[in-house]
Amino acid sequence: MCGIVGIVGQSPVAPLIVDALKRLEYRGYDSAGVATIEGGTLARRRSQGKLINLERRLGEEPLGGRIGIGHTRWATHGVPNEANAHPHFSNGVAIVHNGIIENFAELRAELMADGYVFHSQTDTEVVAHLIAREIARGANSVEAAYRALRRLEGAFALAIMFSDDEDLIIGARNGPPLAVGHGEGEMFLGSDAIALAPFTNAITYLEDGDWAVLRRDKVTIFDMDRNEVRRDRQQSLGTSFLVDKGNHRHFMEKEIHEQPEVISHTLAHYLDFVEGTTRALDLPFEFKNLDRIALSACGTAFLASSIGKYWFERLARLPVDADIASEFRYREMPLSKNSAALFVSQSGETADTLASLRYCRREGIPIGAIVNVRGSTIAREADVTLPTLAGPEIGVASTKAFTCQLSVLASLAVRAGVERGTISPEQERVLVRHLAEAPRYASQVLKLESQIEAVAHELARYRHVLYLGRDTNYPLAMEGALKLKEISYIHAEGYAAGELKHGPIALIDEKMPVIVIAPHDRIFEKTVSNMQEVAARGGKIILITDKKGAEHATINAMETIVLPDVPEIITPIIYSLPIQMLAYFTAVVMGTDVDQPRNLAKSVTVE
Ligand code: F6R
Repeated sequence: MCGIVGIVGQSPVAPLIVDALKRLEYRGYDSAGVATIEGGTLARRRSQGKLINLERRLGEEPLGGRIGIGHTRWATHGVPNEANAHPHFSNGVAIVHNGIIENFAELRAELMADGYVFHSQTDTEVVAHLIAREIARGANSVEAAYRALRRLEGAFALAIMFSDDEDLIIGARNGPPLAVGHGEGEMFLGSDAIALAPFTNAITYLEDGDWAVLRRDKVTIFDMDRNEVRRDRQQSLGTSFLVDKGNHRHFMEKEIHEQPEVISHTLAHYLDFVEGTTRALDLPFEFKNLDRIALSACGTAFLASSIGKYWFERLARLPVDADIASEFRYREMPLSKNSAALFVSQSGETADTLASLRYCRREGIPIGAIVNVRGSTIAREADVTLPTLAGPEIGVASTKAFTCQLSVLASLAVRAGVERGTISPEQERVLVRHLAEAPRYASQVLKLESQIEAVAHELARYRHVLYLGRDTNYPLAMEGALKLKEISYIHAEGYAAGELKHGPIALIDEKMPVIVIAPHDRIFEKTVSNMQEVAARGGKIILITDKKGAEHATINAMETIVLPDVPEIITPIIYSLPIQMLAYFTAVVMGTDVDQPRNLAKSVTVE
């Protein structure tokens, strides 16, 4: 997490750095800071909270200088106050950091024993002092940075500058992403290409263990053995405009409304609507030879993967292990040579998902990545990228990326079924036709906005909520609970409806509304029984169902949200919308920061 920027430029850089940081605010917004050098003097402005506070600060006290670094923080070590905000300084060395220095306690003790005084609680400050100590011992700036880098353990992306050299920024990457942008007589460093898009689209992505020496006219990249290395220069696809909210109050609202369109784009990439077939894909494996797929991801992407498991197993008779990536990376799952691994990630930078991918790489199995950000690390390290075409997702709570992930997984599962002979050409045509109807039904569900807003007013009165569902609606219930808790801060849990009587039913009383996701499918009656168990104990039910379900549900629900009757394969996609809208409107009623909820960040590049 955290976003970093560095510019060795031709004009005053502070406003350019702030502009780039705006594009990186998705990586964290606990504090922000900029440092520049002018006339051999280092100066910085830092502020707690969002970037807007830093902008105000710079408005009152501007910074000159044609070289600078900047940072937007997601706090790991130390509370999010101004003293802990980056850049950190030590005797003419300035530094910004994304990641975690794991051996910082040991280094801190060593530096304190040497007389270095710490002004923050961060792990980052040790790096500034380490470099300053090497300079004090006689090393030049580049040598000092290199020696310090060799002492660091953990995950980091760094940008470093020196008050006595206004033509030098050093960048280093070990884990979190870092990109070099090539300009004409100026050079840039940023956590991603989008941050640098207004300045240049000629980008070099640093690899793990790389460190780069940026001067206005030249960039040289080295590995940790100090060998100069060549890295490709690529044309970035980053868009230079800052995506705006249009007529919506929040990005999340806008992104919920974009779903009919982006689901349609994504499906069209995998399905031929005219022929009624799935498209052949250039994959590093053949579905018919696989005996297992390992699917891993974090958070919402994991819940999409969990729904994907039902589809692959049911439609293609292909067993799937769906794992939370932070567990998968350490559980040493045996992978047969006929396995393939799929990783699902909006950002393509999530540290645990990336580590799981690398585990599979070491195990030698083929790797596919379902990602939204092209050019991201996960996309680059996979054998094949299976894009979600959701467009930039700015709201921290994932909405349109989730339904696009579902669209890819459903299309892939159908394709797998076709290739494995478990789906006939006629069944393929029907399933493709059903999937093609998803955007239209999604548009219809968006029209239920005012009813869902009214339900949200009711929901906002409670402190705890239970979500229930069966089959694919079980992971969706967990997604509903995740959305609700992350943006409204209401405690919510998602359960398999059949599990209720094995424990959670003890929680049911009139203070605990239960949201049940129950389309009228082959197990609808089972879910109705679970609702009766809830009702018998005074629980208040909010039922999300379809027209048939509303007719057949024999319970007295507090609220019933009635969706259109939709084909089974698209129910998880269509039922995602009401749960997103419910979370969104509840958060609006509660007055929370919908797009940037507390303690979270859009891209999680630490473990
Ligand atoms: C929740 C949410 C997170 C992400 C998770 C993985 O709304 O957005 O749970 O899904 O942090 O992120 P990506 O998909 O970027 O790997």
